[in-house]
Amino acid sequence: MSGSIDYGDALDRVRSTLRQASGKESILQETAAALHELVDYYTWVGIYLLEREDLVLAAWEGPQATEHTRIPLGSGICGLAARTGKVVNAPAVNEDPRYLMCFPSTRSEIVVPILGPQGVLGEIDIDSNVEAAFDEDDEAFLRNVAGELAKVLEPE
Ligand code: SME
Repeated sequence: MSGSIDYGDALDRVRSTLRQASGKESILQETAAALHELVDYYTWVGIYLLEREDLVLAAWEGPQATEHTRIPLGSGICGLAARTGKVVNAPAVNEDPRYLMCFPSTRSEIVVPILGPQGVLGEIDIDSNVEAAFDEDDEAFLRNVAGELAKVLEPE
């Protein structure tokens, strides 16, 4: 939805957050909080990590908790992004049969895989209360953030 957002500045802010945080849990939590704060239509931000055949919620920031703290790879938009290793941008979740409902207020969602050299490590999942909130600038920005997270997660 770009508009007033300076994505370069936002990426710098995320990078500086990553530098200041220490420990995997804190890095993921701080990143989720930074994304939520930086872009007003990022209503709920979650970071899931892949554990065998499940995506496990490692950090989130937003108005409420989700019941989907563990998502099988076969389920939802989150599962699809992790299975394919590709970004899934769902502009109208209520018309999307792949969608697994979390919050009744969500109108659109984007899921961006965190890719390491060996494959998918996890993903960034963002719900927006705005219809068709995410465009190619959001996608590019979030791919960069996922790249930063991959560097932190990969050595484990
Ligand atoms: N909507 C996601 C499930 C996770 S929640 O949005 C937090 C999906 O379709 O996979």
